[in-house]
Amino acid sequence: MPALTSTASTLVRTCARQQLPAVRASAAAMQKRSVTEVSNTSSFDSPFKGGTGASTTKIPNFGQYRNRGGETSNKVFQYFMVGSLGALSALGAKATVQDFLVNMSASADVLAQAKVEIDLASIPEGKNVIIKWRGKPVFIRHRTADEIKEAENTKWEALRDPQPDSDRVQKPEWLIMLGVCTHLGCVPIGEAGDFGGWFCPCHGSHYDVSGRVRKGPAPLNLEVPEYSFPEEEKVIIG
Ligand code: FES
Repeated sequence: MPALTSTASTLVRTCARQQLPAVRASAAAMQKRSVTEVSNTSSFDSPFKGGTGASTTKIPNFGQYRNRGGETSNKVFQYFMVGSLGALSALGAKATVQDFLVNMSASADVLAQAKVEIDLASIPEGKNVIIKWRGKPVFIRHRTADEIKEAENTKWEALRDPQPDSDRVQKPEWLIMLGVCTHLGCVPIGEAGDFGGWFCPCHGSHYDVSGRVRKGPAPLNLEVPEYSFPEEEKVIIG
């Protein structure tokens, strides 16, 4: 049996050797034919296929992607978009700011309190009236002729907060000022103290008949608010 197997193997090898040249020739022919077919049917034109002096730079043609309407129509569209977005943004910003300001502005009842009108005819000479304005007391004093004289003749240059009486009143007979002590904010008492004006009992500050500090820890004169006389017997504070 081994001898038979060996004989068969030798026979197969001999046949293969005899047919090898024919097989090689056939394979070469097939390869040549397929290369020829590919080169005839392929649309790809490689820039690297060689050739002496041939340019290797090949730029594709993008003509079919170009805008047919020209450069102007493109720019018009861009300007339109930029303008529209800008206008929309400006409108949004305006609405936001407007809402914010409306929310922050004072309501009608607060505005009503911003100014106070007082009838001066009801305040006799030599008397004080205290009214409330913006949550603070306001002193209105109808001064007598003697008080006016005393206030005007005081040597104000030497005072702690030097101020002439004429700078503190619009009409000499009407002294109008905030009733808040300039030390720590107590409400002074009228017609009291060493100078016949106001006295703050909290820490002992004395103010004269013009509301100027004359003694005690208060650093400044009583503050004069904004006011005007729209009529002879009327004052508007604020
Ligand atoms: S608060 Fe008026 S003297 Fe101090």
